[in-house]
Amino acid sequence: LGHANEDLKALIRTIPDFPKPGIEFRDITTLLLDAKGLATAIERMAAATHGPVDLVAGIEARGFLFAAALAVPLKAGVLLIRKDGKLPGATIAEDYTLEYGTDRIAIHADACAPGATILLVDDLIATGGTARAAIRLLRKAGATVTQAQFVVDLPDLGGADRLREDGIEVSALVS
Ligand code: PRP
Ligand code: HPA
Repeated sequence: LGHANEDLKALIRTIPDFPKPGIEFRDITTLLLDAKGLATAIERMAAATHGPVDLVAGIEARGFLFAAALAVPLKAGVLLIRKDGKLPGATIAEDYTLEYGTDRIAIHADACAPGATILLVDDLIATGGTARAAIRLLRKAGATVTQAQFVVDLPDLGGADRLREDGIEVSALVS
């Protein structure tokens, strides 16, 4: 397992020293530019999804792209998890810790029916702080979240393991 996605790994580029010295930034814009690579990524994420889902929840900003594309073959809607202050209707929000300080994400309070089955999607998981806050937020709204999918996992940062400890089934195309 893993080897099957070497084709996708080759489409993800590494930019040294972005956004800060010493950080190796995994850049998925090159995967998005490749028509066949993008279609393959979405097909494999769809194949990794278990059971029907009502909504695919995408995390701003790059997560939106994969969430919307994946929702079409899954015949699901898309729920936007946005940085606080961007959504026009009544929201519920959740704070999470960053390297320096905190941030806050939000969803529309009426975005999902209680008990809705949700697949969480983002382009990348690093520490898992963002994804875990998203799951707390969706659960606060009454949704059922059991699976999360990412294009890239950075396993040294431990985020996917933390999600698994929270009872989420995690899958990523590329490590
Ligand atoms: C990146 C990435 C994830 C998050 C992962 O988003 O797209 O959402 O960081 O990091 P974590 O697992 O340590 O929480 P970023 O905050 O750069 O936002 P953007 O997509 O709007 O650029
Ligand atoms: N790439 C994109 N987003 C990120 C990364 C990365 O390497 N690390 C944390 N968020």
